[in-house]
Amino acid sequence: MNKKIAIIFGVTGQDGYYLTKLLLEKKYIVHGVKRRSSSVPTKRISSFLNQKNFIIHYGDLTDTSSIYNLINTIKPDEIYNLAAQSHVGVSFYTPIFTANVNAIGVLAILEAIRSINNKIKFYQAGTSEMFGKTDHKIQSEKTNFNPQSPYGAAKVFAHQITQNYRDAYKIFASNGILFNHESPLRGDNFVTKKIVNSLTNIKKGKQKKLVLGNLYSRRDWGHAADYVDAIYKILQQKKPGDYVIATGKDCTIKEFVNKTAKIINLKIKWKGKGLNEIAVDENNKTVVCIDKKYFRPLEVDYLKGDASKAKKYLKWKTNHTLDDLIKEMVQYELELP
Ligand code: NAP
Ligand code: GDD
Repeated sequence: MNKKIAIIFGVTGQDGYYLTKLLLEKKYIVHGVKRRSSSVPTKRISSFLNQKNFIIHYGDLTDTSSIYNLINTIKPDEIYNLAAQSHVGVSFYTPIFTANVNAIGVLAILEAIRSINNKIKFYQAGTSEMFGKTDHKIQSEKTNFNPQSPYGAAKVFAHQITQNYRDAYKIFASNGILFNHESPLRGDNFVTKKIVNSLTNIKKGKQKKLVLGNLYSRRDWGHAADYVDAIYKILQQKKPGDYVIATGKDCTIKEFVNKTAKIINLKIKWKGKGLNEIAVDENNKTVVCIDKKYFRPLEVDYLKGDASKAKKYLKWKTNHTLDDLIKEMVQYELELP
């Protein structure tokens, strides 16, 4: 039997690593697309670079010609689009770049599929940020979108254009609506990685303070390894569709700090309010404080997902609790030199 061929846009990111690992285990030929960078962008995926079924290419979602040429040359069975300017806070500083990559870049892939071969299956990495400010305490595929950032707004365009191309051109195009998912390979400036990295450094005596923004937003955090399993399953269904992927459990940033501190055995106590809120250690030294520069012009206060559809049709489930996830992230940081 011929091996399946996949293209992964965004292969150098967190999910790119876990999805590549999964597809190589499933005997795919994986073509990863990296963009040009002044430093080495392939650190996460260095272990795959010498494997014969993994081929890396230059490309960029803002360069339509590169997308068309790659798809036309590789002739994949499946395309996974994980590429994005994925930081919500940063999207307020780079809104046009964010829209070009996260919205127009997706349209460019769909246009290439339409004109080259509409039998190529397509996965779009959608997000719970599309729900934004919502009255629904738990969000599902039926919940309206009300994004609160250039990132979220661009992802809504990507989600809807993916549906349009599915309906208009009969392309097998599916959207995941993934809630926050983390791992030891999470980017350094996302809050979970920042908390785990800083608190372990404080414990090792290498850092004095962890400086955060809003402590009271709530997120539904899962493990990236479980979420790429859902991404793969979404493209193996008989019919295309859209799926929420989430744990159904949420907690605040402050609760995440407390859980991490407990796991690394750092005793902390909270004092004060608002911008003056701090956490102190046993010696009354401040280890966590707030800086308003980490607050966003708009905030998404709570996200919690209902993944019933994925559980029923994809037979998907999460295999990690939040404590498992934090323990794995802490262990990784502790083992760093
Ligand atoms: P990530 O670690 O930030 O990875 C993003 C990837 O996109 C990186 O490989 C990045 O390349 C690439 N990229 C950025 N701009 C590009 C461009 N112009 N052309 C080509 N590639 C470009 O993000 P992630 O956490 O793995 O998330 C994967 C996808 O899922 C993203 O689309 C994200 O928006 C979405 N999502 C993530 C979560 C989550 O909680 N992780 C939840 C919902 C949805 P560089 O390495 O060169 O920067
Ligand atoms: N990054 C960051 N840094 N966030 C902070 C900080 C800080 O110092 N302090 C508080 N926060 C709060 C943010 O305001 C937000 O409410 C929450 O922590 C989570 O922030 P991030 O970890 O940056 O993730 P996100 O929820 O904004 O976005 C992530 O999840 C989305 C899915 O819901 C990203 O992975 C997106 O790409 C993804 O779509």
